[in-house]
Amino acid sequence: MYWNKIAVAIFLSFMLTVAAAEEQRNVELLASSCAACHGTRGHSVGGTPSLAGLSEHHFIEQLRQIKTGERPSTVMIHHVNGYTGNEIKLMAKFFSRQK
Ligand code: HEC
Repeated sequence: MYWNKIAVAIFLSFMLTVAAAEEQRNVELLASSCAACHGTRGHSVGGTPSLAGLSEHHFIEQLRQIKTGERPSTVMIHHVNGYTGNEIKLMAKFFSRQK
């Protein structure tokens, strides 16, 4: 009985680790499409704003404003429409963690 519970606990924590690794890989894939303009991992080489180190709140808020047209944009409007709210949240977290 006792051992069963331990086995289940080990299995569940293994599955959570797998899920976290998968999410990390997915967000890196999503974020890589921003690199063409915003630089590798959000380190812009000029012309576009750097995304690295932006607060999650600022990131999400800018994209929200671009989506609604409150903030005028040239190209971001085309990109932002291609992502779900959850994908934007994941990328906000990813870029906020870049030094
Ligand atoms: C084709 C070039 C291009 C690509 C690709 C691109 N961006 Fe942008 N981004 C811009 C430009 C230019 C701006 C400035 C606003 C505008 O003119 O649209 C901007 C602005 C932003 C801002 C606002 C930053 C601030 O501090 O004001 C965020 C956040 C952002 N982009 C996120 C992303 C994300 C996330 C991706 C990838 C999913 C991405 N961008 C892909 C060109 C691009």
